[in-house]
Amino acid sequence: MNTQQTVTISKHNHIGILTIDYPPVNALSQSVRQGLIDGLENLENDNTVKAIVLQCQSRTFIAGADIKEFGKPPTEPLLPCVVNRIEDSTKPVVAAIFGTSLGGGFEVALACHYRVALADAKIGLPEVNLGLIPGAGGTQRLPRIVGAQKALEMVTSGKHYGVSELANKDITSDKGLTLFDAIFEANSDLLAQTLVYVEGLINSNNLQIKRVGEQSVNDDNFDWSKAITTISKKARGKEAPVVAANILFDTKAMGIKDGMKLEREAFLTLRQSEQSAALRYAFSIEKIAAKTDFKETPLAINNVGVIGGGNMGSGIATAFLAAGFNLTLIEQNQAALDSGVERIKTNFKRNLKSGRINQKQMDTCLDNLIATTDYHQLGQSELVVEAIFEDLAVKKQLFAKLEKVCNADCILATNTSYLDINAIADVIKRPQQVIGMHFFSPANIMKLVEVVQADKSSKVALISAMAVVKKLNKISVLVGVCFGFAGNRMYTRYGREIQQMLLEGAKIEQIDQAMTTWGMAMGPLAVQDLSGIDIGHNARSAQPFPEYDPGYFRAAATMVENNRLGRKTGQGFYRYDQDNNNGSKPEVDPVAADLIRAKAAELGIKSTEFNDEIIVERALLALISEGLSLYKEGIVQRLSDIDVVWLHGYGFPRHKGGPMFQAIQIGKDNIALMLERLRSQQGSKIWPEVDLSLLDELSL
Ligand code: 3HC
Repeated sequence: MNTQQTVTISKHNHIGILTIDYPPVNALSQSVRQGLIDGLENLENDNTVKAIVLQCQSRTFIAGADIKEFGKPPTEPLLPCVVNRIEDSTKPVVAAIFGTSLGGGFEVALACHYRVALADAKIGLPEVNLGLIPGAGGTQRLPRIVGAQKALEMVTSGKHYGVSELANKDITSDKGLTLFDAIFEANSDLLAQTLVYVEGLINSNNLQIKRVGEQSVNDDNFDWSKAITTISKKARGKEAPVVAANILFDTKAMGIKDGMKLEREAFLTLRQSEQSAALRYAFSIEKIAAKTDFKETPLAINNVGVIGGGNMGSGIATAFLAAGFNLTLIEQNQAALDSGVERIKTNFKRNLKSGRINQKQMDTCLDNLIATTDYHQLGQSELVVEAIFEDLAVKKQLFAKLEKVCNADCILATNTSYLDINAIADVIKRPQQVIGMHFFSPANIMKLVEVVQADKSSKVALISAMAVVKKLNKISVLVGVCFGFAGNRMYTRYGREIQQMLLEGAKIEQIDQAMTTWGMAMGPLAVQDLSGIDIGHNARSAQPFPEYDPGYFRAAATMVENNRLGRKTGQGFYRYDQDNNNGSKPEVDPVAADLIRAKAAELGIKSTEFNDEIIVERALLALISEGLSLYKEGIVQRLSDIDVVWLHGYGFPRHKGGPMFQAIQIGKDNIALMLERLRSQQGSKIWPEVDLSLLDELSL
């Protein structure tokens, strides 16, 4: 696309209008950057023009630098030059903001002399989410307007902020600079109102060139050291927020030119980092995950039924209600139903307390809830999600009942975590309606939903479920039927390796420490204690897949045999002392270690020394190896989908990209050597041959 097409010039009386039209999100590609410079020059040279409005076509103001250009050599004009050119303009420039003004897009707006916006627009500097810091003046101009403290929060959190939310906080610099000079009603005509606003300034002789870069940063009474320490702790291994905080601190007393120089250097260094590559990869694979080659049109779904009001069912129901669906909750009896409704209300109250929703929104959502024990009330539902306990025979009975009460087009989804959905579908006359929708706990919070394609599932049912997941503001990944689908099958393999390391002499707390230091949200053994060691144990004991033989999980079995089921019994791999913070903090318990040591001795397993590196390596190899097998078997559409599953379902550190991204970092040759070594120690049943050439398909 050439310059003329991405940025155009027009005029309205004495106002020049620069319009960016570069769908989908007006990213600052080379042609847009060049178009802005050329357009500005043109309008500056036009003697009839007194002010310039910068606006965008399509669905949003500029959403940032063009991420697609990040892997390529930089091309002139660079963004810092463009923003400085805007600020240096000899005529006032007014940014007209709607949609999202993010990253480089917000930096462009900050360089303008006025900013006007629709009330529902969002702004922000989300660069840290891509492992970067703002690279075109964001760390310099923002603190000059909102002060050091607010700027530090905005830059290091990467959050998107509502325009009205910021305006309400009345953030204005002591020099009279403000983030927004005018805010117009949501959905109103932005350009028309901007032109009226600018004409008012021209007619009243109030038009000024307010250069943010010429001001100083206000950091009065701000405790930088405390703030940077807090940010470093919260970053949990992520580099970008810490670099951003230090840049803000180091440059606070500098002039804009020197400050931007340091900012740019740090931006360019981070752009080359593995963390940024991982985070950019994560951004792109999430967009791809929800795509299929199905041509079918999704069904309209507004009315949803959820069977089961336990933790999972009530979480799923909450997610649907929060997204505006009409929801019928079914339970077996009134007492269970009341508990389910109470759980849903508690979830909403938590959101109310945290400010995520207001009372009116909560009331509206809860008005859409019908709670009943009468299955016939599912007659209007277009989708029913079953979330009862994991018993195949009971689920089969339930689906037979659903077939009778639901209408013929209704999609019947099971939330099973590992049961055979084909066996469930086979009991009814319309198996094409049966799919899996595997939510992760807590379902009202966790983003991932595995949409499971059983042998006879129709494409319409699947594509409709995926569209519903998008409406829930969650991420769907299409998977096939196997024990545990993609996520739990890999999680089982991961858990199996952890269990093996325990028997070989790795300590409980050493394993958890190694994995959390590496970046996992929780240690695998603390997770087992939290969810209940018996849950996995019972599931493994009840299913027929030899590779998940409960015999591999001897340490967990020993805990169960000794009634050490985890937090719920006050002891599991750890001890939970009731005197200690309500028993919420895991304490190392020598009894658990003794039990595992005794089991290892009984099995004749020799104890060896472990270090963190070996623990992480073996855990990762287990994931990589199982992931490759899953892909080879066609359980996932693409290798990158596995990473989406792990990032959103299992607390895999986003800045490490996912198990498959890690495989690329470790390298095929290294993985082959490591697998060979483990195979020679433990045998090819535990470490089967995998096709490492599949990794070549992963596009980074
Ligand atoms: N560059 C290039 N393409 C982008 C893009 C960007 N900055 N942001 C979004 N896109 C693309 C997406 O890849 C997607 O492409 P596809 O249709 O081919 O899949 C398309 O635009 C639409 O994006 P979404 O599906 O995400 O649409 P949504 O409406 O859900 O969200 C959004 C829109 C809020 C803008 C979201 O896309 C987003 O958060 N984008 C990233 C914004 C960002 O991180 N900006 C900072 C970039 S770094 C930077 O600016 C550095 C600077 O400081 C120098």
